[in-house]
Amino acid sequence: MSLSRILTIGDIVGPQAVEHLNRHLWDFRRLNDINLTIANGENACTGNGLDAQTSNLLLSSGVDIITSGNHIWHKRDIREYLDSTDAVIRPANYRTTTPGSGYTKINVDGYKYLVINVMGVVYMDPLDNPFYTVDRILNHESGHYDFSVLYIHDEATSEKLAMAHYFDGRIDIMFGTHTHVTTADERILPRGSGYITDLGMCGPVDSVLGIRSEIIIEKLTTNMPVRFEIAEGPVEACGAVFTLDMESKRITSIQRVKF
Ligand SMILES: [Fe+2]
Ligand SMILES: [Fe+2]
Repeated sequence: MSLSRILTIGDIVGPQAVEHLNRHLWDFRRLNDINLTIANGENACTGNGLDAQTSNLLLSSGVDIITSGNHIWHKRDIREYLDSTDAVIRPANYRTTTPGSGYTKINVDGYKYLVINVMGVVYMDPLDNPFYTVDRILNHESGHYDFSVLYIHDEATSEKLAMAHYFDGRIDIMFGTHTHVTTADERILPRGSGYITDLGMCGPVDSVLGIRSEIIIEKLTTNMPVRFEIAEGPVEACGAVFTLDMESKRITSIQRVKF
């Protein structure tokens, strides 16, 4: 039976997390027979955002596609950079004049994977309707890919789950992030799509969302503005591995992973 294994990793938070992937990701890929890796890079730089240099480091560390969300825009060079690469995408439901693309295609072992990035609108910025945005991309790309992946950047678990049911059977692999907290609901949906609501993050374990917990506690107890600082200490990458059976063309398993 020939299998394809797709590793998905949550939001990479800060330079220590980038360094962690640089040190461990190729080994993880080899040990777990990973064919394709997709990770969120919106918080990879100090002070949030992604720049060209950090992106290139992640791409050489074993990440094939970098997705993003509301925090992607912080660094000055990202707009130009997004227009220059197919390996980094931003939410597709920004207006059409926004730099970069909301989806990409990648060839892996002779198969074409369509990877779409969308952002929710519940407790998030009021972008275009994410359901219809993805519908439009699927219609436009129909017949031009073998497998499809939907990455949902979203706060509300209910909105991610609703999208998962809406696209069940039409998209092979679906997963979310943005909360930086892993959910334990990985499963194969009734019409065959593999899904997990939130992968969590790749960042400092002893933190709140990757930020020093004292700072977040101060913010929440005083309601005063604070300066975010990335926490020190051990880093863990949280994600999930989706296994595709290439003969039946179906997802056969989803497994949460940490390394
Ligand atoms: Fe994030
Ligand atoms: Fe986010």
